Amino acid sequence: MKFALGADHAGVGLKSRLGGLLHARGIEIVDFGAEESTPVDYPDKAAAVARAVASGEADRGLLVCGTGVGMAMSANRFAGVRAVNPSDSYTTRMARAHNDANVLALGARVLGAGRAAELLEVFLDTPFDGDRHAGRVAKIDSVVE
Ligand code: RB5
Repeated sequence: MKFALGADHAGVGLKSRLGGLLHARGIEIVDFGAEESTPVDYPDKAAAVARAVASGEADRGLLVCGTGVGMAMSANRFAGVRAVNPSDSYTTRMARAHNDANVLALGARVLGAGRAAELLEVFLDTPFDGDRHAGRVAKIDSVVE
């Protein structure tokens, strides 16, 4: 399992904490920054992570900005990327089990560090259910208009 990480200035601190969690679990990381709180545009970081996931360079992605919204919007422009921006465990679990989400976009100004870590753990530990969901996910990936 290899994770691509990215954050803007609002998410850099939380990205670092969550990167530590991934490291502790023995997960390989490719970190696209940011490394400091100097302003950086979230679509640039989302694009770097989304490209890594779409190309297969990384299996999954973690993006952090103020709300996670801009990151998810940006990442979902890339074919094969299915980014989710949850605030609760149930949504996170269903996004993996039913939607095979491959990018987790979190909001550092919305979530406490403990909740963010909980959501990342759920994202890591929940497999895709496949079966009847597989065709629906294939339909998501086939839509380009
Ligand atoms: C930056 O101020 C903020 O707009 C960004 O971190 C994010 O919340 C956008 O979706």
